[in-house]
Order: sequence, then C-alpha cells, then structure tokens
Amino acid sequence: MAEARIIDGKAFADRLRARVAERAAKVKQQHGITPGLAAVLVGDDPASAVYVRNKEKAVAEAGMASFPHRLPATTSEAELLALVAKLNADPAIHGILVQLPLPKQINAERIVDAVDPAKDVDGFHPVNVGRLASGREGLVPCTPLGCMMLLEDTLGTLEGKDAVVVGRSNIVGKPMAALLLAANCTVTIAHSRTTDLPAVCRRADILVAAVGRAEMVRGDWIQPGATVIDVGINRVPGAEPGKTKLVGDVAFAEAKAVAGAITPVPGGVGPMTIACLLANTVTAACRQNGVAVP
Ligand code: GUN
Repeated sequence: MAEARIIDGKAFADRLRARVAERAAKVKQQHGITPGLAAVLVGDDPASAVYVRNKEKAVAEAGMASFPHRLPATTSEAELLALVAKLNADPAIHGILVQLPLPKQINAERIVDAVDPAKDVDGFHPVNVGRLASGREGLVPCTPLGCMMLLEDTLGTLEGKDAVVVGRSNIVGKPMAALLLAANCTVTIAHSRTTDLPAVCRRADILVAAVGRAEMVRGDWIQPGATVIDVGINRVPGAEPGKTKLVGDVAFAEAKAVAGAITPVPGGVGPMTIACLLANTVTAACRQNGVAVP
C-alpha cells in the first residue's frame, strides 16, 4: 500500500488567511467596519503567551484591528469580569478571546459565560455550544472548524463515513463530534475509559485524535486507507540531549504507512486554528452589523 498523503494544513491555512484578509478589506471598504479582536491573556504561562502573540500577529496581518489585554497572574475574577463587560460593550470589538487556562482564583466557566455570545469567537459560550448541538447558526470552536475544512478538502463529502473522535474535551472532542454528525457521519466519541480503544479506532474511516498524549495512537490502530487528523501538540525530549520536539497524539511514522491521508505535527491542524479565529472574527463583525459575510 502506498504511503499516506500528507495533509498540508499550513498551506491550507495560508490560503484561508488570505481569503479572510480579502473579506475583511471588503467589509471595511463597503461598510466602514474594521473587524476587531480583543485577546485577553491573564498571567505569564509561556505557551499561552506564544499562542496569544501569534493570534494577535495574524489579526494585524489580515488587516483587522487587534486589542491586546495583558493582566497579571494575581488578577481577581471580578477584575476579569469587569474587563469582559467593557469589551462586550465596545462596538469596535467584534470578537473576544480569553486565553485558557486561567489562574486558579478565577472560575473559567463564569468568564466563558460572561462573554457576549455574538462576540464569542472561540465558540465556548453555552449558547454557541447549544446552537452547534441543535444545528443552528452560531460561532463554532476554531480547532474543530479547521479540522472539518481539512477533512472536506481531503475527502469531499463526509456523508456516511464512520468517524471516531478520541478525546471528549469541550474545546475539541465534543464540538468535533457535533460537526461530524452535522456532516452526516456516523460518530463515535472514544476516551480514556473506552473498552478496547484500538479496536474502536480501527473501525474509523475518519480518525480524529485529540487526547493530549504523545503518540498514543499507533499504526495498528488505523484502518488501511483511513484519514487521520492529529490535533495533539505535545513537547517531548528530542534526539539530542537538552533539546525538545513537538509530536502529535498519533505515532506519525507508523500511521503514515497505513493511513490514506494524515495531518503532520507541526504543520497540520495547528495553523488552521488561527486562520479559523480570523474567519470567525469577520463573521462575528458582519452579523453584529447586520451585513452579509462577503
Ligand atoms: N487554550 C487552548 N486552546 C484554546 C483556544 O482555542 N481558545 C482559548 N481561548 N484558549 C485556549
């Protein structure tokens, strides 16, 4: 059997970002609206700081307005709620992203619930979760949205496919399953308590790994010819002492020999998340102003 096709998420994301920049320019030119995103980072977790910086850079590169907010790790829940209320009320801000995780004195659910659902470009607010679950228009979480775009680009229609999602997080696993169901897949959500996880994975025409455990999904868990989407980003020791490298939740070299198509790590799903955040911000800006998304 031939080796799997490598799904180039970086190239797809670059094209999507260019299209979103064009949309943002049209909205500005035709309606005088500059789509704006406020990204809020509380504390100084280095990985979160990198993610937020990359998101803000991408917003600026797409010709959109970026409203950065950095708060100290000692910020209280009341202070963060006050900032969210201010951003909700600001008409120049169409998207609000509060980077997770938050320091332990802050209840993340209360913060997620406080974001105006119309500005919730993460798609985490219960109103948007409910809209996705019931097939209504809302804002969809960026990582699963990006995964769906890669799957549809790779396979065309997903109708009738057996899809297995490994992982049941609110950020990826659950919304991913909802999107696959909406695309008429037969969906299984597997997790750490699933009995005979390898056998469940082997049923999948589409296998989405989102567990956060380095190289957990092995080559012999994959149905020959399946499409494998690896959402994992795990830092592990590298070949040289003191060096590290990024790996996914799938053992890539083994999987590549069996799958029909597979996303690499890095360069697969990761770049799609930011591109989808930009797309959601333009969508949110248009809906808030009652204009069509170009
Ligand atoms: N932390 C990890 N992933 C995400 C994400 O997609 N959005 C936010 N706000 N925080 C995260």
